[in-house]
Amino acid sequence: MASASPATDWWRTAVIYQVYPRSFADSNGDGVGDLPGVTSRLGALKDLGVDAIWLSPFMTSPQHDAGYDVADYCDVDPLFGTLADFDDMRDAAHGLGLKVVIDLVPNHSSSDHRWFQEALAAGPGSEERARYIFREGKGKRGELPPNNWDSVFGGPAWTRITESDGTPGPWYLHLFDISQPDFDWTNPWVHEQFRNILRFWLERGVDGFRVDVAHGLVKVAGLPDYTPAPGGSMGGDTSDAPYWAQDGVHEIYRDWHRVLAEFGPDRILTAEAWVKPLSKLTDWVRPDEMQQAFNFGYLETPWDAISLRKVVDASLEAFGSVGAPSTWVLSNHDVIRHTSRLALTPPPLQGAGIGPDTQPKPDDAVGLRRARAATAFMLALPGSAYIYQGEELGLPEAIDLPDAARQDPTFFRTGGELYGRDGCRVPIPWEADAPASGFNTTGASWLPQPASWPLYARDAQVGVPGSTLEFYRDALALRSEHALGAADIDWLEFDDADVIGFRSGAVTVIANTGAGTVELPAGRIVLCSGEAGDGLLPGDTTVWILAAAG
Ligand code: NOJ
Repeated sequence: MASASPATDWWRTAVIYQVYPRSFADSNGDGVGDLPGVTSRLGALKDLGVDAIWLSPFMTSPQHDAGYDVADYCDVDPLFGTLADFDDMRDAAHGLGLKVVIDLVPNHSSSDHRWFQEALAAGPGSEERARYIFREGKGKRGELPPNNWDSVFGGPAWTRITESDGTPGPWYLHLFDISQPDFDWTNPWVHEQFRNILRFWLERGVDGFRVDVAHGLVKVAGLPDYTPAPGGSMGGDTSDAPYWAQDGVHEIYRDWHRVLAEFGPDRILTAEAWVKPLSKLTDWVRPDEMQQAFNFGYLETPWDAISLRKVVDASLEAFGSVGAPSTWVLSNHDVIRHTSRLALTPPPLQGAGIGPDTQPKPDDAVGLRRARAATAFMLALPGSAYIYQGEELGLPEAIDLPDAARQDPTFFRTGGELYGRDGCRVPIPWEADAPASGFNTTGASWLPQPASWPLYARDAQVGVPGSTLEFYRDALALRSEHALGAADIDWLEFDDADVIGFRSGAVTVIANTGAGTVELPAGRIVLCSGEAGDGLLPGDTTVWILAAAG
């Protein structure tokens, strides 16, 4: 394990809590969470025991993709507050010893961005058009898209514009929603803008950036046709796609690495790159590029001992080979919460979501038991772990959202065929007896909260032995006390193929992914994701054991 200086290498072992601002805490009661709301609840995150927060986008945006469609990279959307609110939040977080990582969306802007509006107005051949990927259409009159690419959210990845004189114009590329035109990263002007954006936020004291679609910025010259194999996840696993994982992206991150270094040795870049295999993903975290990359291969691993052993070994080896920590993650705002996902075999495709018509429905009890066991396993692993807001409460995916409430572009662009990601984005509960379960004081909520939400509220769990919240607090405290994030692990071998375990310093971790009961070694159980008694470990349960003294 690379030696770590705690001050500058905090990210090697950090537990980073994802705040999805629109659903975290709403200070003004309009039904959408905001930055003052985040500030007001930071104490709860400190108390939980995390090291850092990552905030999904709160910048100016028409919100066609929940803020991943940015119209001004250097300002706060009024929905979320002001730059002064951001400063207050940052100061409060830093005052509590929490690092602050923000989202950066460089693959595309909003079509409302001044840069895109100027590109439309300036006309063919202009410098402004060269900021984005405009191409003439095919067919006699350019009436067909320039190539056959589909958008990740469904439908074509191209939209034709109308010139200001009313004539049909060229098409622009949007790998995501129609409102998210892709930048042309062959244009040095784009590079310059993003260097400025990085410096703007670094000067404002952010500790790092989670880089959205970090595998997508560079496209193969000529934009050749491509038909992906069915079954890819957000942005596909298709390593041969001409819009994913092109070598050219690495020069961009080397450049950004140098920009961050201007501000000291402790700022970080984390890649959201849906790239397989792991040995390729680690290109993003070579010493002169980013510090971390999300380990989505781990997130997508089923709850079974053999698969887990494989992915952990592969991760430690791959990330270790470039001197980077592995990261671990089970939930985020793009996937079905692991409390529900782990009860579905096989889980739906990433991004597809589940809804009222999904059959079979996940069993909440099975899901929660597996989720807690999976979390206990994850939080014992060396490296950096991500937690998504609400998972510490054991929140399940919200399945029964009415169509009329849904907001994910995936739902609309597939004509409702895919439910999309709204089910994991519902505002979280704080107080069982308050309006909107304490999300705000008015009861408004941009997505309706399920009737069960009060049961999961934070105040219903604080101090309650065995609650999911107390289980997370215990796990994080023990992880820190035993420095598990920085330890090396030694695998233990079991006859039972459903069981996986390892030793990490003084702590022995054993997970039973099957249904049978397993005998435990001697020692003191310091953490149990469920109930283990009489030296026996039930199915879907993980324990941490301290060797008996002597
Ligand atoms: C990944 C983000 O996590 C997701 O929410 C978003 O829709 C796409 N990138 C497009 O920005």
